[in-house]
Amino acid sequence: MTDTPSRSRDLYQRALESLPGGVSRNTVLRSPFPLYADHASGSRITDVEGVERIDFSNNMTSLIHGHAYPPVVEAVEAQLRKGAAFAVATEIEIEHAEHVLSRSESFEQIRFVNSGTEAVMGAVKAARAFTGRPKIAKVEGAYHGLYDFAEVSQTSRPDNWGDERHPESTPVAYGTPAGVLADVVVIPFNDPDTAIEILDQHRGEIAAVLLDPMPHRIGLVPASTEFVQRLRQWTEADGSLLVFDEVITFRTEVGGFQQRYGVKPDLTALGKMIGGGFPVGAITGARDVMQVMNPLVADVRMPHSGTFSANPITMTAGLTTMRLFDAAAVAKLNDLAGELVVSMREAIERSGANACVVGAGSMFRVHLSKEPPRDHREAFMTKEKSGELKVLLDHLFDEGFIMINTCSLALSTVMTKDETDAFVDAFERGLVRLKS
Ligand SMILES: Cc1ncc(COP(=O)(O)O)c(C=O)c1O
Repeated sequence: MTDTPSRSRDLYQRALESLPGGVSRNTVLRSPFPLYADHASGSRITDVEGVERIDFSNNMTSLIHGHAYPPVVEAVEAQLRKGAAFAVATEIEIEHAEHVLSRSESFEQIRFVNSGTEAVMGAVKAARAFTGRPKIAKVEGAYHGLYDFAEVSQTSRPDNWGDERHPESTPVAYGTPAGVLADVVVIPFNDPDTAIEILDQHRGEIAAVLLDPMPHRIGLVPASTEFVQRLRQWTEADGSLLVFDEVITFRTEVGGFQQRYGVKPDLTALGKMIGGGFPVGAITGARDVMQVMNPLVADVRMPHSGTFSANPITMTAGLTTMRLFDAAAVAKLNDLAGELVVSMREAIERSGANACVVGAGSMFRVHLSKEPPRDHREAFMTKEKSGELKVLLDHLFDEGFIMINTCSLALSTVMTKDETDAFVDAFERGLVRLKS
């Protein structure tokens, strides 16, 4: 740590005593110490030193209207006065349910939970309860939160990932039970032939194929239409379910990224944006599958509860947010993001840097290579690659921009060309610096 006086540095030193690694979530770590926020408004966060930065992280894609969005603040303030959480039902959870269900044909019923992790876990358990099968299949390297089964292979490395045609099931956390690894089948991203070859070896055993249609950690490259369609066909023929993880991709279209493929997943895990800035997740999908959670039948297949699930604060913030993210708002945001990407590509061209930008909707990621990675193995971050990326991230930070730590951006509806133009200028200077 440097000796320059810094309140953030002092706070971090204090935090190291009470929090493992000084933080409550690893993603806020940055070297030599994390940034400590004082307050935020619209597209900007002001830190405890009084420095204001433009926020392109938007709490890891979750703040679709930026910080302290007035309609959300007003609605939540009013609800806070009426109570924050009750062990009785509320009308607002029905209204939010009806709203989310209206956004996609594949959403027939919904249960709210408190995080994306919980949504993915609930969807996997529902698929098991519905099919009576133990296994799931997932894409190598894809991040789906912290549930043991969904975590498998997320951090696979060259020394443990095994043969390309048969990726190993590798644990993320020490102590992951061997049974967990045995019940997760790992398939490569965007390689339908190999994926189907692997799945064929587990016919009749798989409850669900879990797919994020644009997995961030693998590079934020959209799944090919062929990959999605072949997985849909395979699951249908096998009697297993197709589960989409749209925790981050839901922001790309009114009805989520699934809208672009013309396929209907059986279940979808949602989170982030639908909580309007508050902790949230949701399991949604086909009525017959969702019925496994119905407690009114004699033999309930998947009992489901949660102390803070569908609490009225999250429901109020979420519904207010989503109503204001209608088709026109989605299109306007995606247009702004599209223009930004064109300008970033022009900046790359002008600078002659070895870089590219990929993504969709209002989310993009910068790679320091001419072509984006095709799968987890190509996206794998070597020390050299992360070192280079850190130079760019530190440069952008010093110029006043907060990014997702993979060098990804998630725009919000309160942003304008002022923010995106300022970003492109700083980005180009960063690329030139990288080259030299
Ligand atoms: C695709 C995806 N699924 C699930 C999760 C987990 O969500 P949460 O952090 O709310 O548990 C995340 C979080 O970043 C995610 O990106």
